[in-house]
Amino acid sequence: MEMVNGKAKKLKKRAAEHAVEYVKSGMIVGLGHGSTAAFAVKHIARLLETGGLSNILGIPCSLQVEDEARQLGIPLTTLEEHPIIDVTIDGADEVDPNLDLIKGGGGALLREKIVAQASRREIIVVDESKLSPALGTRWAVPVEVVAFGWRTQVSYLESMGARVSVRQDRNGKRFLTDQGNLILDCKFGPLSQPPQLAAKLNTRTGIVEHGLFIGLATDVIVADAKGVRHLKRTT
Ligand code: A5P
Repeated sequence: MEMVNGKAKKLKKRAAEHAVEYVKSGMIVGLGHGSTAAFAVKHIARLLETGGLSNILGIPCSLQVEDEARQLGIPLTTLEEHPIIDVTIDGADEVDPNLDLIKGGGGALLREKIVAQASRREIIVVDESKLSPALGTRWAVPVEVVAFGWRTQVSYLESMGARVSVRQDRNGKRFLTDQGNLILDCKFGPLSQPPQLAAKLNTRTGIVEHGLFIGLATDVIVADAKGVRHLKRTT
């Protein structure tokens, strides 16, 4: 369902601010990348300013978020100093009924996955348009590859049945991730077995990471016109 921008924005904000209720003073907090997670980052900054939260240390999922968090005055740390994150709030591009995800629309999938793996709780915040019966129905799977030999990865991914496009930046140049890698957006269509595809992508040299987040989200907060739903992983 196409949503008017303003309405989607409101829903994203509602989901993100609801998730911030799970952030408590003294926590190490993963700060997600993307327009929905940005509402959470802003809300955390506001609460730090007004005394609603204290002693938070943030770990940003991208250089862009690091910059924004610094400007908002959120104290930051690193995974070297704090290898366990209490809670991360991040967005997603597609969420299936198992709470598995496609992420990486913003290009930050590698750091997002490292942060998610280090998090006790990974709260995903979305508006209802992100819910999907099967991953791949609405989104391509982003695959981050090293620049060396990248065309060989295109052929490999095509041989797996994907329609592949090289992600471009706003200036029509090849998009480069924070690690200086390329992103290949791979349209596989609706995936019947996302964990199997993820496992296969994991074995290919030259593929750094992919946007299938299997079993990583502990909670998904979905905002729709009626309010907020909190979905929790049960297994
Ligand atoms: C960033 O790389 C992504 O994983 C984002 O979390 C995802 O694209 C969701 O972005 P929006 O919240 O902007 O829709």
